[in-house]
Amino acid sequence: MAIANPGAPADSCSPSRFTEEVMDDGWICSSMRRMVWLHLDGTIVNQKVIGLGSTGLVIEQGRWAIKIPYVSRGIIRGVDGLPDEVEPLTPEEGDYDDRIPLIEEIQCEKAMYRRLGNHHGIVRCHDLESTDPSIRMDRMSGDLRHFLDEQKRPTRQTQLRWFVTLAHTMAYIHEHRIIIADVRLDNLLLDDHLAIKFCDFAGSTLMPLEWDLHGTDDFGYSILIDIGQFGAVMYQVITGKKCKFELGEKESDSLLTGTRREDLPSTEGVWLGHIIENCWTMSFKSSNELAAALDQAKLPEEVQAPIPSQSADNLLTLQP
Ligand SMILES: Nc1ncnc2c1ncn2[C@@H]1O[C@H](COP(=O)(O)OP(=O)(O)OP(=O)(O)O)[C@@H](O)[C@H]1O
Ligand SMILES: [Mg+2]
Repeated sequence: MAIANPGAPADSCSPSRFTEEVMDDGWICSSMRRMVWLHLDGTIVNQKVIGLGSTGLVIEQGRWAIKIPYVSRGIIRGVDGLPDEVEPLTPEEGDYDDRIPLIEEIQCEKAMYRRLGNHHGIVRCHDLESTDPSIRMDRMSGDLRHFLDEQKRPTRQTQLRWFVTLAHTMAYIHEHRIIIADVRLDNLLLDDHLAIKFCDFAGSTLMPLEWDLHGTDDFGYSILIDIGQFGAVMYQVITGKKCKFELGEKESDSLLTGTRREDLPSTEGVWLGHIIENCWTMSFKSSNELAAALDQAKLPEEVQAPIPSQSADNLLTLQP
């Protein structure tokens, strides 16, 4: 996947984005406005963009993927034959500087990766000691959401292999006292061999190392929310249907702060439905319990015969 910088180079062929501006008098001025992504030194991002998040831009650099803060500016059309100009990167004195929270977020995410170290279920990062506001990672093939949208569904063997890897990796992440808070298809990456890895700890919480894994962070996230979200990932991979487990209102006498069970789909007849169910009803008290249940999980009878080889090609078939 490659995404073009909306306004770079500043020529008439570049795609544009509509923005709506609320004026002082309450009118909404809808204008066609060309935007461009910038590096923090003010240069235009002209590398291949392979990922776009709400706060980060992931660019390709050889075998690396570099996450940088998502900084964009409008292009001011030149008048009277003057060339187009990019809006200034630095705000006027006293104005809000959008770069500061984005830089802080990247630095926090780097701190998460430093605490986690190398693990086969987490995207490998490099130069984590540098103070540069960017994260250098191994470049992967893409994320699980795009994969499932674009490809045939993987075999049940592959699905189970992913779930087992992810559950054990989540247990490792929780052991390192990190609440992920954003377990979803976009934040799970696949390499060329369909090995799966967690990425994106931008919204995660680094809890104290002596934390006992109970309770929540300041926003209400907990390891139980991570497990609930994990259930939604399983449901989507297995059924191909959309499903979201989100942070909800805390009910006074209940631990349950995620999406209520009645607002989630039925798992009747769904392969591994009992495990998904336990994720959603907070019956697993830890990701170790979830991992142990997945270690015991069986393939559906019709696919239990061993597959001849593990090449990526034969891991993709349509599921019944
Ligand atoms: N190492 C990588 N290799 C290939 N693609 C990647 C890599 N890291 C991230 N991406 C792609 O970039 C996207 C955005 O990255 P990421 O989720 O880290 O950004 P974000 O701004 O924190 O996102 P969010 O909107 O979830 O907060 C991912 O969904 C994925 O498609
Ligand atoms: Mg993300």
